[in-house]
Amino acid sequence: MAANNLGGTYTMTGGITVARMGYGAMQLAGPRVWGPPKDRAEAVAVLRTAVELGVDHIDTADFYGPHVTNQIIKEALAPYADELTVVTKVGSVRDENGGWPHARSPEQLRSQVHENLTNLGVEALDVVNLRVGGGADGHSVVAGSLAEPFGALAEMRKEGLIKHLGVSVVDAAQVAEAQSIAPVVTVQNWYNVAHRGDEQLIESLAAQGISYVPFWPLGGFNPLQSGILDTVAKRLGTSPKAVALAWLLHQAPNVLLIPGTSSVAHLRENIAAATLELPADALADLDRITA
Ligand SMILES: NC(=O)c1ccc[n+]([C@@H]2O[C@H](COP(=O)([O-])OP(=O)(O)OC[C@H]3O[C@@H](n4cnc5c(N)ncnc54)[C@H](OP(=O)(O)O)[C@@H]3O)[C@@H](O)[C@H]2O)c1
Repeated sequence: MAANNLGGTYTMTGGITVARMGYGAMQLAGPRVWGPPKDRAEAVAVLRTAVELGVDHIDTADFYGPHVTNQIIKEALAPYADELTVVTKVGSVRDENGGWPHARSPEQLRSQVHENLTNLGVEALDVVNLRVGGGADGHSVVAGSLAEPFGALAEMRKEGLIKHLGVSVVDAAQVAEAQSIAPVVTVQNWYNVAHRGDEQLIESLAAQGISYVPFWPLGGFNPLQSGILDTVAKRLGTSPKAVALAWLLHQAPNVLLIPGTSSVAHLRENIAAATLELPADALADLDRITA
């Protein structure tokens, strides 16, 4: 499928070009992102179908499972096509209760980078995001310096273990601090039609050729629910999820999508949303959605 059916392409600073509709691999692990999937064959099929349909941007982390998601990506897709960009993230591990504690000392980050290299089966990671925030809900921005952990990743980039760097769960000041240490090609934050607030950041990243990748485009663990979304979808003869994805693509050219799913059928639906045009009255209605 040509990239124009995937929302077109975007070229980030650093020269990485990807289709704007990508895939997020977190749902490939077991329930609550822990252990093996219910159906490993389906998980492999999701990845292979995504690539067959033209997806060339996959988001992952070695703490999904842990290790499970990366191992399934390797089983399904290695040896990797040159044009595929796999983005992973570091800065957390899993504890025995399935929690996601921070792990950001230079030694911890180095060991996470090596685990990603081994489980993905590559000699260098395409893009590594440092996951910075957390807070009470685990996914919100927390102000503070990222100099030590990002500096450790910049060092590993110089060593050739990492090709490009990004940051996740960050504010504008943290992006700027990261950029003073090493080039940043992508930013990944919580953002969707019902969870806004990053519009200025998206615009300033666009001006610098930095991609903005919203996580939880469909609401993640708390699926998006909105009467307005339902009404707009009905009017357009599509699903609320397709409208939510099309809305994100409409925001700015540097917004790249990584909806997650464990199902080939859902994957196909999500990819099809990249061709959905939202008329002005639909966009106006969607602007009335509140968190
Ligand atoms: N940087 C970070 O801190 C961070 C945090 C969270 C996530 N992420 C990344 O963001 C990606 C996307 O987030 P996410 O997967 O958590 O949430 P999401 O994309 O917002 O939603 C995924 C959920 O929606 C369901 N779904 C997907 N497509 C559907 C469809 N067409 N119809 C019905 N249900 C559908 C999935 O279930 P099914 O499996 O049944 O389809 C799953 O429960 C992740 O894969 C991960 O790579 C990053």
